[in-house]
Amino acid sequence: MSLNITALTPVFCAEVSGVDLRLPLEDAIFDEIREVLDAYSILIIPGEPLDDDQQVAFSERFGPLERTLGANPASGTAFARQSNLDMKSGDIIPTDDKRMHYQQANMLWHADSSYKPMPSLCSVLSAREVPPDGGATEFASTRAAYESLSDAAKSKIDDAVVEHDIVYSRGLVGFEFPKEIGDANPPARHPLVQTNPVTGRKSVLIGAHAKRIIGWSDDESRAMLDDLLERAAAPENAYSHAWRNGDVVIWDNRAALHRATPYDHTRHRRLMQRTTIGNPAVIETYGAYPAIAEA
Ligand SMILES: [Fe+2]
Repeated sequence: MSLNITALTPVFCAEVSGVDLRLPLEDAIFDEIREVLDAYSILIIPGEPLDDDQQVAFSERFGPLERTLGANPASGTAFARQSNLDMKSGDIIPTDDKRMHYQQANMLWHADSSYKPMPSLCSVLSAREVPPDGGATEFASTRAAYESLSDAAKSKIDDAVVEHDIVYSRGLVGFEFPKEIGDANPPARHPLVQTNPVTGRKSVLIGAHAKRIIGWSDDESRAMLDDLLERAAAPENAYSHAWRNGDVVIWDNRAALHRATPYDHTRHRRLMQRTTIGNPAVIETYGAYPAIAEA
């Protein structure tokens, strides 16, 4: 088995074929996938749909899997379910149901789990049922955003630390978090500038959960976060993926943002299963960020 890799934009994103993710992968093949992820940030791998066990087995090769928050229908499992289908009955969930409201925040640019003390290395999303149109996922390169900055701007943000907060980001779409879930997920702090330990290339950890830069005024902080987001999402740094049934997409949460786009969720069925891989190396390198003193 050998991989075929096709770059989809000059900046990031590659389609990878020649691998069947339903089968156990030889180490050499997995190592190549890992290397290509570091290089391209987003990998699109077409194939037959995975089942849950196959997805877990593949995802665990990258690192420890996160457990999903209480607000997701798949809470307590390794899966975050992105779907308009009731988990038990399989029926379409009504528009005004809070499960659909919760998912609206997926339409904001974000990095999965940036609000957690251990940020995510990458996410694996597999398409189990896709609508006939709509429902694309868009990606934006936060590596390109960093690289587009002037040297002065780079040095200004070099040591910046950002507070990420899911209560804040869900509030942006008017979703009120149950208090006990909010209390269990206090804001986390991460360096704004991230360095890929393999390639040495830098990126910025931003997106909807990024509430503020610690020690900066509200105006300065918001202006910088908005400017970085605008750079990441500029058309030349972005890519939109139209899903085919069975596609698996892996994204590097350190180097890219993503967002969902609408589909007719009152008429068409959609089921996507996400596994999210933690990045324990960050904790080993930097320690626990909540311990950083407020400037
Ligand atoms: Fe997401």
